[in-house]
Amino acid sequence: MAKNRSHSGKKTVKKGKENSSKHAKVKGETDDMKIPPVHDFKVEEISAVRENLLSWYDANKRDLPWRKMATRSDLNQRAYAVWVSEVMLQQTQVATVIDYYNKWMKKWPTLQDLAKATLEEVNEMWSGLGYYSRGRRLHEGAQKVVDDLDGEMPKTAATLLKELPGVGRYTAGAIASISYSEATGLVDGNVIRVLARLRQIGADSTNQHTMDTFWSHANMLVDPDRPGDYNQSVMELGATVCTPKSPDCSSCPLRQQCKALCQVERERQMSASKLVEKVVKKEETETLLDIECCADNCKLCFDKEEPWDSSLGVMNYPRKGKKKPPRQEIARVCVLCKKCSDDKHRFLIVQRPKKGLLAGLWEFPSQTMEEDMKAPDMLDIIDSKYNTSIEAVQEKHSVGEVVHIFSHIHQTYSVEAVTVLEEKVEEETESEERRWVTKEEFLEAAVSTAMKKIFKAYEKSLDDSKKKVTKRKRESSGDDPGDKKKQMSINSFFKPKN
Ligand code: ADE
Repeated sequence: MAKNRSHSGKKTVKKGKENSSKHAKVKGETDDMKIPPVHDFKVEEISAVRENLLSWYDANKRDLPWRKMATRSDLNQRAYAVWVSEVMLQQTQVATVIDYYNKWMKKWPTLQDLAKATLEEVNEMWSGLGYYSRGRRLHEGAQKVVDDLDGEMPKTAATLLKELPGVGRYTAGAIASISYSEATGLVDGNVIRVLARLRQIGADSTNQHTMDTFWSHANMLVDPDRPGDYNQSVMELGATVCTPKSPDCSSCPLRQQCKALCQVERERQMSASKLVEKVVKKEETETLLDIECCADNCKLCFDKEEPWDSSLGVMNYPRKGKKKPPRQEIARVCVLCKKCSDDKHRFLIVQRPKKGLLAGLWEFPSQTMEEDMKAPDMLDIIDSKYNTSIEAVQEKHSVGEVVHIFSHIHQTYSVEAVTVLEEKVEEETESEERRWVTKEEFLEAAVSTAMKKIFKAYEKSLDDSKKKVTKRKRESSGDDPGDKKKQMSINSFFKPKN
């Protein structure tokens, strides 16, 4: 192993020329994982990547709330603050996370506060962020630290990974590097994009060998003096400059180290040289076109079936294998509104099972529809599943269809609205799995974004029908402004012209 490229990062890569032509090997790297030179970093490139990225980060980093929290003096609370932010940031944009993060840290400023909360409160706080198991796992993790580890967060990436539920390799790396300055790398979608472009890694980024290569690069590149800042700088670059669809290569601090950009520039030269082909000797043209090549069977290059596409430029990287299309599901949903004697309208919501998709969240009563299934009577379902029978319906209408995409499910809800009077509702027993809530309580409850969308569609359907009724009334009383307009234009038509 090259002396100055240890995984732990304790020995820094010195500036200068030592070992300049050798390629790195990371602790634990076996020969069959050896990275071909084209896709690897030379020692001097590692130094350049660190220096350029960190200077850029110092000048350009965003002012984000968790970055202030990551400087708290107590190590456990610092790690907790980073943990919360990193879990929220998985699959969710920074702009969305900021508000949720501030509210969360205000309500539960310490691990101990979170450990005391109920899952119901956690789900309420998480409502709208999606991927609810993240919040549940964070809560379970805080309880484990407080109950079983004496309030002490594990202090290394390896022990965080081993001891905390829901903490994977990425989160462990983020907490350890940002809170404890452990020189350990991390890989997320942003890091994959930056590394794939830097080193022309065109193989399917979801396959194991490619992922191992990204981790190996990340661990090798992390700056041992500022590991937390280094890791955040790569993610920040991926989020703001080296973006998926509109990379700004001209302002990228790593353009000198970027092989994808080099490939784009070579291609440009190549097309220019074709124009002057007649005057340039053949050998000269060939030198100009000499592209760094890999072995035919290189596992990190593009799949031969899907070669480089000139129109995409650096956006050729990274490549993902074809995703399975989302499962199509249809469900009937009933927004059941009870008009109460205190003049309030209350809606029936029921709790989902404690395990599985959207575990423990609240929703309007629903029924998944199988193919060719006859539309079920939702009031029968509400009666049999939730022991709530409706003796007479005051009003009923169709809200229409609401579509929501979960990560792997394309869900269509066919929504109907039913209004009943309080005295026409009969409930056999008290139940913890159903509640009648006002609109305000509904919006504060632990309900998913899909249910909030359904509620919005329901309110719109009420508005639309009110407008229709008003229009009909106006029309029948001859008070329609549309008619007046028509009339005025007819009047002006007959007005004598001067
Ligand atoms: N994405 C996820 N975590 C991040 C962080 N700490 N900084 C920038 N981008 C991130």
